[in-house]
Amino acid sequence: MNAINEPPFQPRSGTEAAEVLFNTPVSGEYRHMAVSCSPLAASAAPGQFFQLLCPAPPGEAPFFRRPMSLYGADPASGTVEFLYKVTGTGTRGLATLGSGDRLDMLGPLGHGFTLQPGWRNIVVVGRGAGLATLGPLARAAKARGIGITAILSARRPELVVSAALFREQGAEVLSVTESEGTSDPAQVEVLLRRLIAEGRCDAFFTCGSARLLRVQQSLATEFGLPGQVAMEQQMACGLGMCFCCVREFNVGGSIVHKRVCWDGPVFDMREALP
Ligand SMILES: Cc1cc2nc3c(=O)[nH]c(=O)nc-3n(C[C@H](O)[C@H](O)[C@H](O)COP(=O)(O)OP(=O)(O)OC[C@H]3O[C@@H](n4cnc5c(N)ncnc54)[C@H](O)[C@@H]3O)c2cc1C
Ligand code: FES
Repeated sequence: MNAINEPPFQPRSGTEAAEVLFNTPVSGEYRHMAVSCSPLAASAAPGQFFQLLCPAPPGEAPFFRRPMSLYGADPASGTVEFLYKVTGTGTRGLATLGSGDRLDMLGPLGHGFTLQPGWRNIVVVGRGAGLATLGPLARAAKARGIGITAILSARRPELVVSAALFREQGAEVLSVTESEGTSDPAQVEVLLRRLIAEGRCDAFFTCGSARLLRVQQSLATEFGLPGQVAMEQQMACGLGMCFCCVREFNVGGSIVHKRVCWDGPVFDMREALP
């Protein structure tokens, strides 16, 4: 029972059997899935994640839940979306789900991105599956009147996922790829320096590449700009209890250990050790 005057307990996350609405391929490697879920799950914010209990694909048995970032959430319709790369047992299992199937999800979990009221333009730099994590920033920034330039990196042009989502929300999208020879950090640094010089970078947001993180950290220090990074780390519980996701961070010159699932997954870019 709650003490007098104590507000009623409000869970921040929970488990549920969400109903799959669609789960369709978007390229040779990625799938886009939407589920109908509770208001709590649909209240998830950009940068937060869910622990998904992936069904077993034929002949395999995924152990532990798999962390998956929020790709979209609509509290009005009670839906959340995921964009995932099929890499191993768990995601192969996810790929077997079809409309009407149930997906056991735990979430929303972790601390997501923050957008400061004074910012007018932000730069989003992502690579690979990190583009899924950054995707929901497109809608969140537009809703706050913040302009976005998205530098989206991948091995090949067809793997630049999230580009349509950013464009729909009015962002300028610059795709850089290995196959076109445009994605190495030195070339991305040239793009970033141009954006900074044009006054179009009040903050950096990044996920998916240690090399691109280093470039942004260096520019953030040089120009005194803030930044946030969503860290990807293998996880077990996702709830801060098992310490399997601990990484080192540099906080004010001291090495500090933090749990990516509990203290993050979004961190101040200056603290991150790539
Ligand atoms: C907070 C968070 C959010 C994530 N969001 C997304 C997302 O939105 N979309 C998406 O496609 N992926 C995302 N990932 C990565 C995703 O969780 C892994 O790809 C997935 O767990 C792989 O499971 P699997 O069983 O299919 O493959 P496994 O057989 O477990 O692994 C296949 C390969 O992927 C590597 N791997 C597994 N887990 C991770 C991880 N967490 N980080 C880096 N490499 C890993 C393994 O070392 C192995 O080489 C996220 C990870 C975290 C920690
Ligand atoms: S995954 Fe268990 S503490 Fe982070």
